[in-house]
Amino acid sequence: MSAGLIARPAIARKSEALRGTVRAPGDKSISHRALMLGGLAAGRTRITDLLEGDDVVHTARAMQALGATVRKEGETWIVDGVGNGALLAPDAPLDFGNAGTGCRLTMGLVGVYDFATTFIGDASLIKRPMGRVLDPLRHMGVQVTAAEGGCLPVTLSGPKTANPVSYRLPMASAQVKSAVLLAGLNAPGITTVIEPVMTRDHTERMLQAFGANLTVETGAGGERIIRLQGQGRLTGQDIDVPGDPSSAAFPLVAALLVPGSDITIRNVLMNPTRTGLIVTLQEMGAQIDVLNARFQGGEDVADLRVRSSELKGITVPEERGPSMIDEYPVLAVAAAFAEGRTVMSGLEELRVKESDRLSAVAAGLKLNGVDCEEAPASLVVHGRPSGKGLGNAAGAAVATHLDHRIAMSFLVMGLASEHTVAVDDATIITTSFPEFVELMTGLGATIE
Ligand code: S3P
Repeated sequence: MSAGLIARPAIARKSEALRGTVRAPGDKSISHRALMLGGLAAGRTRITDLLEGDDVVHTARAMQALGATVRKEGETWIVDGVGNGALLAPDAPLDFGNAGTGCRLTMGLVGVYDFATTFIGDASLIKRPMGRVLDPLRHMGVQVTAAEGGCLPVTLSGPKTANPVSYRLPMASAQVKSAVLLAGLNAPGITTVIEPVMTRDHTERMLQAFGANLTVETGAGGERIIRLQGQGRLTGQDIDVPGDPSSAAFPLVAALLVPGSDITIRNVLMNPTRTGLIVTLQEMGAQIDVLNARFQGGEDVADLRVRSSELKGITVPEERGPSMIDEYPVLAVAAAFAEGRTVMSGLEELRVKESDRLSAVAAGLKLNGVDCEEAPASLVVHGRPSGKGLGNAAGAAVATHLDHRIAMSFLVMGLASEHTVAVDDATIITTSFPEFVELMTGLGATIE
């Protein structure tokens, strides 16, 4: 059954110290990209530690529908690609479920092909703006049919020959950057993306590893200028997917908040475009030791030892936003237990994630006794270090709005609150972290 079809509530209770060593599931961003580039490249790609969450499964199915062969042998995913420029027209609409990344990146990957492809998704994905990807694709010659507001279902029909563009990103979005670069793979000449604020760079790194001619230069104003030579040869690679820092964030914050905790999270991706939460929590007083830092498969990786800590509220620098964009919900939960106030600003992108995360977080915090102020693009949280009075004694559940990170963030909150914290649906967690409840309870958390 797909996540979110029948809601299953869950409840978290104040827990004893968390102890143990765990491994975070494979990074979602890298898993999507590994399947896409593996499916596109000539020859065989072998992927280990691929995230087997629903979001990534949808991307695997989409790549199969576009002509790639994807199968699992033992612990390794084997992808036999079609060769750059040789994707096939799918027989049916591509269903991306809850996955914005899978959907938007595949729009770039196949949208410029000279056939029609239709994209559909779940009740959350059909509300999310696709115009940010459709606009540059139109410049490349793609004909677009979309529902009102540029939403799914979307049908894309590429031109005979795509037009390589130079595109300046209007918002800090790795998905938009990646969609344009992936489209550029099938356009003659050089496609350029200008990125005023750096976002996660997994697409650039992986394209280079697969043999694409891609360069990155820093412009006079500090912007990144990424140039990709289209229609080059891509060759299958071996990819070992590092652990997802956005998933590691949940046991990490839980260990900080539950007194007496001492845990180690192994194999966490430490790419600087993804470590904003760790830096912020350390500024708040968190004891997070970065151990065994190493370079593995083209990415920085480390083990994190996390001990319970007394946190202090801070003002989070706005420019750090892109490196912790998915971590604001769980940071807001950490802030609820910090001394003083935590100010988070520049959060307009949170309104267009799997849910309107800014309002979902504020509503959840208020329901569980946290004093906070929500503004159009900011959130101020007033913490209560002991957790006294936090939670909801009546058992009222946080509305998760088909958003895995809202569900996991509030279950973490319940582990350190005086009263329980309930969420209205835990099934959606399987999109990014299928083993979340098992992993957390294995550390000593009480989640039912
Ligand atoms: C992602 C980019 C981010 C992030 C998402 C994954 C990616 O989205 O929130 O979970 O893999 O490129 P935006 O590009 O919309 O910021």
